[in-house]
Amino acid sequence: MNTTYKKSLAVEGGNFDNAGMASIEIKKILKDLNIHDDILRKTAIAVYESELNIISYARNGRINLIVDDNEISIDVQDEGPGIEDIELAMQPGYSTATEHIRQMGFGAGMGLYNIKSCSDRFEISSTVNVGTHLKIIINRGNNL
Ligand SMILES: Nc1ncnc2c1ncn2[C@@H]1O[C@H](COP(=O)(O)OP(=O)(O)O)[C@@H](O)[C@H]1O
Ligand SMILES: [Mg+2]
Repeated sequence: MNTTYKKSLAVEGGNFDNAGMASIEIKKILKDLNIHDDILRKTAIAVYESELNIISYARNGRINLIVDDNEISIDVQDEGPGIEDIELAMQPGYSTATEHIRQMGFGAGMGLYNIKSCSDRFEISSTVNVGTHLKIIINRGNNL
């Protein structure tokens, strides 16, 4: 049996009132799909950090979730300023977050680093003044 579950969530740039909503929704979906706790936790972190980056830096974006028997795929695409130096942005602790963002408790500079750590496969591409694209794959192991 090969079942595939798909969900696409829109994320609005600048709207911190909704911060965490996409991650909560995806957590619920994964619970309903009986995904193991450790896989669920890694996916939730990756989605949360991706969501926060859209809210913090982009105009708008989408988080596309695909769950099949083997893996969880999270495709994150935004329209925004893009990232000029990806290698630098990936460094733990590097952040361009504004004072406003830091005051809300975000902007520790660990987001992209944590996304990569939670991923079994991770790809990032970005075009300045166009947007950023993350491809995150988390293996389900033998948890079917
Ligand atoms: N979607 C994005 N669009 C534009 N810039 C981004 C995006 N995601 C991350 N960045 C840039 O990469 C930096 C590091 O991101 P991250 O590791 O998530 O840390 P933080 O969000 O705490 O700053 C950000 O400060 C920002 O400059
Ligand atoms: Mg971040």
